[in-house]
This record gives sequence, C-alpha cells and structure tokens, in this order.
Amino acid sequence: MRTTVGWGADGPAAVLRRVPVERRDLRPDDLAVRVDYCGVCHTDLHAVHAHSGGTTLVPGHEFTGVVTEVGPEVTRFAVGDPVGVGNIVDSCGECAMCRADQENFCHTFPTLTYGGTDRHDGSATLGGYSREYIVRDGFAYPLPAGLDPAAAAPLLCAGITVWEPLRALGVGPGSRVAVAGLGGLGHLAVRFAVALGADTTVISRSADKADDARRLGAHDLIDSTDPDRLAAARDRFDVVIDTISAPHDLGPYLRLVAMDGTLSQVGYLGEVTIETMDLLAGRKRLSSAGSGGRAATAAMLDFCAEHGVTADIELLPSARVNEAFDRLQRNDVRYRFVLDLSDLS
Ligand SMILES: NC(=O)c1ccc[n+]([C@@H]2O[C@H](COP(=O)([O-])OP(=O)(O)OC[C@H]3O[C@@H](n4cnc5c(N)ncnc54)[C@H](OP(=O)(O)O)[C@@H]3O)[C@@H](O)[C@H]2O)c1
Ligand SMILES: [Zn+2]
Ligand SMILES: [Zn+2]
Repeated sequence: MRTTVGWGADGPAAVLRRVPVERRDLRPDDLAVRVDYCGVCHTDLHAVHAHSGGTTLVPGHEFTGVVTEVGPEVTRFAVGDPVGVGNIVDSCGECAMCRADQENFCHTFPTLTYGGTDRHDGSATLGGYSREYIVRDGFAYPLPAGLDPAAAAPLLCAGITVWEPLRALGVGPGSRVAVAGLGGLGHLAVRFAVALGADTTVISRSADKADDARRLGAHDLIDSTDPDRLAAARDRFDVVIDTISAPHDLGPYLRLVAMDGTLSQVGYLGEVTIETMDLLAGRKRLSSAGSGGRAATAAMLDFCAEHGVTADIELLPSARVNEAFDRLQRNDVRYRFVLDLSDLS
C-alpha cells in the first residue's frame, strides 16, 4: 500500500477534513495518476449527506491529472500523459452491457470511483478529492490536446451523463431540446445540444440565469415558476433533459415534450410518481441514464476538443472544499466548482 492525502467525511453532518488516503500498489494494468483538478458534483453532496459514518468517505469522480507510473501491461499510457477519470473505474467486461460498450450499465454494476468495492481485493474505493488515484488503464481517458485540464474535469461526470442521452436520443440539427436545471450538468447539456445543432431552451427557476443561458448558446430561458410560460411551451420539445437535483413533479416537464418525444430524467435519482395521462397524451417516453460507456466517453472528449466545449468553472484550492459544498447547496455556483489539488502536495 501507499499513502496519499485527500478530503474525507466521517458522517452526514461532518465537514470534510484532510485525511490520509491509502492506495493499492499498482497491478500490472494500473496507472498511478497525480490528480490535479477534481470537479465538485452534486452527487458528492448527496453522498456525504447519505453517509452513515463508520468509515471515511472521500468523494470526487470527475478529475484530470497526469500519469506518474504505469504497470508492466499498460500500453495506452506513458508517464507524463494527461488523463481524465470519470465516475466508473471497472466493470465485468463480459456481460451483454459491457460487450455493447455500456460498461456504465454492467449487469454486475460498475465499480464506482468512490463508494464502490474493488473487484480484486474487496476494498472500498476512495475518490478524486485526493492527490493520487490508482486506476485500471481501461478506465482512464487520454485528455485531448487543447482541452484545459481544469475546465475539462467536469466533462468526466457531468458531461458524459448528459452527452450519452443526447446522442442516444438522436439529437442533431433541427432537434428541439430543453434542458431543465441550469447547473453543472445542465450548462454542459446546453453546450452539447447547441454544438450538435439543436434549437435549445433552458427551463429554470432562476430567471437571472437568462443572460448566461444565451451566452451558452441557448435560444431561450423559460422561467419554471411561471405557469403561463410553461403552458405556452406545451408539446414543444423532442427531448427534455431534466438535471434538477431535488425531488420534483415530472408532470410539468412531461407536458413540454412533443409527440413521441422523450423526457430523460438524469438529475435526482429516486422514486417518482407519474400521471399516466402525461405520457398517454402524445405517446411520450420517460427515460433515464447515468454516466457513460468507455467508447462514448472517449468520443465525447474528442467532440469537446473539436468544438471547444468545456465547463464554466470556479477553481478553488482544495482546502476550500467545504465552502464549495456550502455554496453548491445554496445553488450559488456558475457552473461548476473545481478543486485544485496542488495544495495537498
Ligand atoms: N444520472 C447520473 O449518473 C448523474 C450524474 C451526475 C449527477 N447526477 C445528479 O444530477 C443532479 C444535478 O447535478 P449537478 O451537479 O448538475 O447539480 P447542480 O450544479 O446543483 O445543478 C442542479 C440544478 O437544478 C436546479 N434545482 C436545484 N434544486 C431545485 C429545486 N428544488 N427545484 C427546481 N430546480 C432545482 C437548479 O437549476 P436552476 O437554478 O436553473 O433552476 C440547479 O442549478 C444531482 O441530483 C446529481 O446527483 C446524476
Ligand atoms: Zn457526478
Ligand atoms: Zn458487465
């Protein structure tokens, strides 16, 4: 084992504190990554709040850094390469989902970057709010030249989570797309939809984000607290990507979907209640998604390099992680906090 440093939570109410983080010695197909930048995902906040204690939770599942060491079987990476790692770090590699390049839906459940269980030694995985991460080479991604490593970090969770449904639902020139919730996932969904050629609208309860929405390329922002505006947009969108982080009624968002269109609910994950009539009237579809397969993640990064897509970030020294959590909780971020881990060296 080797020891690095990170930020961990001991229980739901706990603030994150500086903790030692044990990492495995490299296996033949492992890389050691010096973590430079790690995005703060709303899932990290949910995870800390849900953490019952007893162990230390180290969040962080969208990070970029540099390869510092490689195992003897690693051929795709060399020391010094810039890389990114997202929210899954292993899968069975054999089931139908893995064979279809959807490791994110692996029948044995993919190994999560933190809060997961390592497939070889049964240890709990600890995330990227730390200076070093050890990862199987197949679950690290070369970072294309031209992508700023700090602003690219959020692509590895927030980005791929909205990229996959947009692609799977065939969004392209002429599509009418709405993005509900303009946060970390939402602002990247807008950038992707616009870059794919879609006519894109933001649905937000924060009317003061209208200028940002337009700067991101959206054509309009509909205030979700205004029933008249929602009613006027009925049946208007082929695809609605819902990234809202809190439990909410899906009815108003289903009513925005056009005939045979889809509401993809990727934000708050949990039980929802649907009024069947909201699906019936217009033969509408409800779906969800999470993370992405390895092939799609690599394709997304290439697309981002080609189209200049990265996140709007506020970069903070990692020692200010608790401030980032407080502000994320209050919806006070435009549009992603990224931790600079260099203060842990
Ligand atoms: N499916 C997956 O694999 C996956 C991956 C990553 C994250 N997630 C989940 O996706 C959600 C969004 O994550 P994020 O990092 O983008 O969060 P975020 O940056 O906090 O953005 C969430 C946005 O949702 C809107 N919102 C928040 N609370 C709301 C409420 N009570 N009612 C209506 N709108 C509300 C706000 O947008 P406006 O101000 O514009 O209204 C906010 O900016 C989280 O629940 C996260 O856990 C899922
Ligand atoms: Zn995430
Ligand atoms: Zn599998």
